[in-house]
Amino acid sequence: MLRVASLCVLLAWLVLGVPVAKEKQKVLLISFDGFRWDYDRDVDTPNLDQMAKDGVKAQYVTPPYLTVTSPTHFTLLTGRYIENHGVIHNMWFNTATSEKKGYYQTQFVNEWWDNGTLPIWITAQRQGLKAGSLHFPGTASSYQGEVAMVREVEPSFYNYSNEAFWYENTDKVMSWFRDQDLDFVSLYFGEPDMTGHKYGPDSPERREMVKQVDRAVGYIRNSAEKHGLTKQLNIIMTADHGMTTIFRGPDVEEIVLSKIPGFSFSDVSFQLLDYGPSGMLLPKPGKLETIYTALKGAHPNLHVYKKEEMPEHLHFSNNDRILPIVLWTDPGFVLNGVRVYLPVQFNKGEHGFDNQEMDMKPFFRAVGPAFHQNLEVGPFETVNIYPLMCHILGIQPEVNDGQLSVTQHMLVTSKQTTQPEVTNLSAASSSQSEISEIPEIP
Ligand SMILES: *[C@@H]1O[C@H](CO)[C@@H](O)[C@H](O)[C@H]1NC(C)=O
Ligand SMILES: *[C@@H]1O[C@H](CO)[C@@H](O)[C@H](O)[C@H]1NC(C)=O
Ligand SMILES: *[C@@H]1O[C@H](CO)[C@@H](O)[C@H](O)[C@H]1NC(C)=O
Ligand SMILES: [Zn+2]
Repeated sequence: MLRVASLCVLLAWLVLGVPVAKEKQKVLLISFDGFRWDYDRDVDTPNLDQMAKDGVKAQYVTPPYLTVTSPTHFTLLTGRYIENHGVIHNMWFNTATSEKKGYYQTQFVNEWWDNGTLPIWITAQRQGLKAGSLHFPGTASSYQGEVAMVREVEPSFYNYSNEAFWYENTDKVMSWFRDQDLDFVSLYFGEPDMTGHKYGPDSPERREMVKQVDRAVGYIRNSAEKHGLTKQLNIIMTADHGMTTIFRGPDVEEIVLSKIPGFSFSDVSFQLLDYGPSGMLLPKPGKLETIYTALKGAHPNLHVYKKEEMPEHLHFSNNDRILPIVLWTDPGFVLNGVRVYLPVQFNKGEHGFDNQEMDMKPFFRAVGPAFHQNLEVGPFETVNIYPLMCHILGIQPEVNDGQLSVTQHMLVTSKQTTQPEVTNLSAASSSQSEISEIPEIP
């Protein structure tokens, strides 16, 4: 009788995939904004190198399109392409009133973030785990009325490059894991994105910032150890997108929509432009073809698409929030609306380009008890990080666009990383092949 009961528990675990963890594993997801996949190649990065030796390094990862901060971070938290989770831009906007909100203000617009897809914090909490977040995009919003149980929202005008803050935030997160027994925390650093924009990805300033990131990586791993977390804590490090250099100078033929023959802003009802390489237009009634015909082919480095004809690989079409005309430029160029006198865009580095461009690819590292050591893997899409995290945490993922099979080879065991809590596992059987014969028991 007892034996049948325990087999039933085991069977439920196998069929439902809901493991009951004995020693739960924890996950810390860290994003270093704009850390391009190859930033460790021209800088000495002893701590990142050590992390690769102790864990897994991917050659690079592919972010979703649009390759900007909030949309791509929400993909990390949900495993969904941007057209499916609905956070389609850094900026909230209302096409009826032409109102727009910037990146920071948009963090506080619940309806923008809570559009039908739950981030991992909420899913984990609903399944009995404890989740936290520090400064990660999406932290300020609530989802179906719920928030991460421990959270710190980024203050406005936060100094992203202050190394002392990085260490304080790291220790804070580690104490959440230890003292409040959190299972999952997402942690965000706004560099090297800011430095990459300001000085360009090939600058000495960017290389200095990568050294700072590397010191932080060492500090993070030390802090985990000091807090007694190494046996339980898995650290996944990645980024939202990469960075590319913008061409400047008299020889560069800038892309300025107002200068394009046949195009007129009087045909446009609402526009989202002057935001790096990407833009979207809502034509006035009956003006879609006029605008499309004028813009298509107007500049060799400008891509113009009707929403429903967007290239498949971008997964940026099937959402009401995406406007009827989508524009983007080739690396090196930015998209300008009107050129009055001086350019409104003066960054030396930008992102937001096609996610197939190598310069848009972020880095990926993972270390911890769930991961193999000294393993280098090939590239994969960042939608697959979500099911991986759910698997390590032992929670049932929401519907998502990723697949565990893509990343599972990184794990020490391809099965659950935690053992099911069946009192008499040995009495039944502990091997997968024998267990799979159990389903004959009613
Ligand atoms: C998502 O947002 C759109 C408006 O942008 C709204 O029409 C739609 O109902 C929202 N869906 C959900 C599930 O919140
Ligand atoms: C940010 O912090 C760094 C390091 O403390 C400092 O050098 C820099 O001036 C600060 N930036 C701003 C804008 O306060
Ligand atoms: C474990 O299994 C053995 C043999 O099947 C049985 O005698 C024992 O009572 C079981 N123990 C528990 C705690 O279920
Ligand atoms: Zn940026």
